[in-house]
Amino acid sequence: MENLKIGVVGSGTMGRGIAQVAATAGHQVVVYDKDPQALQQAHNFVERILHRQAEKGRMTHQQATAILNRIYWADTFNSLSDCQLIIEAIIENLEVKKAVFQQLEALVNSTTILATNTSSLSVTSIAAACQIPQRVIGIHFFNPAPLMKLVEIAPALQTDASIRDQCVAMLHNWGKIVVVTKDTPGFIVNRVARPFYSEALRIYEEGIADIATIDWAMTALGGFRMGPFTLMDFIGNDVNYAVTESTWRAFFHEPRYKPSFTQKRFVEAGWLGRKTGRGYYHYDDNAPAPQPKRDEQLGKCILQRIRTMLINEAADALFWGVASAQDIDLAMTTGVNYPKGLLAWSDELGIQTCVKTMDQLYEEYREDRYRCSPLLRRMARKGEKFFEKQR
Ligand SMILES: NC(=O)c1ccc[n+]([C@@H]2O[C@H](COP(=O)([O-])OP(=O)(O)OC[C@H]3O[C@@H](n4cnc5c(N)ncnc54)[C@H](O)[C@@H]3O)[C@@H](O)[C@H]2O)c1
Repeated sequence: MENLKIGVVGSGTMGRGIAQVAATAGHQVVVYDKDPQALQQAHNFVERILHRQAEKGRMTHQQATAILNRIYWADTFNSLSDCQLIIEAIIENLEVKKAVFQQLEALVNSTTILATNTSSLSVTSIAAACQIPQRVIGIHFFNPAPLMKLVEIAPALQTDASIRDQCVAMLHNWGKIVVVTKDTPGFIVNRVARPFYSEALRIYEEGIADIATIDWAMTALGGFRMGPFTLMDFIGNDVNYAVTESTWRAFFHEPRYKPSFTQKRFVEAGWLGRKTGRGYYHYDDNAPAPQPKRDEQLGKCILQRIRTMLINEAADALFWGVASAQDIDLAMTTGVNYPKGLLAWSDELGIQTCVKTMDQLYEEYREDRYRCSPLLRRMARKGEKFFEKQR
């Protein structure tokens, strides 16, 4: 797939980044957006980024220019006609995406691979709208695409295995870390990471600890780069809430993914985080940052509860065959920079200990949210480890 001409539909945050990545890897790239202003903005953005990299010595100005020259910013849809792989990165709306895939099929030849960068929609459903569904696949980049190494490859039910293998090989060549995931809501990262936010919100809502203390426990004691509240403020409460709510709905109201009223109210108040100057923290005044209660015992309880919920989620993803144990750990360490893979972490902590923590939470609350994954329980019974064989 070395000399493939790559098409990108949608030149927003993701499309412009994907175009930069593909052109940097040496491909000719055609970027189409229905909004000429968005296209121009994306062009300016990529130009600025590449020249800034040259100024910082990360590449020469000649290399930056060569990359830019490989990208054609197209204001006509027909310009995509001779691309061999097209990655769609338009708005997250199933009907709009299906219509674009149908238009693409009418334009390109029968061997062109059609990929979607969707975060939350069913790839299978998009493929089903196509004449040749075997060539449709999910290629899920993370934001910003040029910096984030992880890519989740999500074949639809109908996707040909050879198309999946070609995409995996190509993204490896682009220098990406590639994991393969089942076409289920949230794929790996957006599913397994849910408890990081939701359990932190729950601990706060129950009055067990304040925001600063929960963040302190997860960073100082847990080694996470950002505490959950700092991270939600960074992502934006609107975006984070929407992902949680859509995951919860897509999983038929699975109680583990139930959204939080606290976060919903923050969104309603417009306290979205950094971008609005106020979220769980204040960013627009000189108010002193709230100090955590540096109580080791409390901190350890917070860490143990959130981390075990994450481990349970990772084990359950493995139980349902979403991805391999290796890919689940790789996705979490590279997609959201967790300090350790969750399954490796549970091996280290002891799977029995994780089961005990889940059972204690369940005993306390009697909520399905705290049910232990059958896989964890089975492994604890047999004394197994996730990565025993590799060591
Ligand atoms: N932003 C993220 O963090 C992120 C991460 C991973 C995946 N995604 C997914 O990537 C996709 C794009 O997200 P984004 O954040 O880049 O969106 P965005 O709003 O920044 O950009 C979308 C672009 O698509 C264009 N567009 C809309 N409809 C179009 C059409 N019919 N034909 C051509 N162009 C059209 C818009 O003009 C806009 O420029 C979504 O499916 C999203 O779920 C987003």
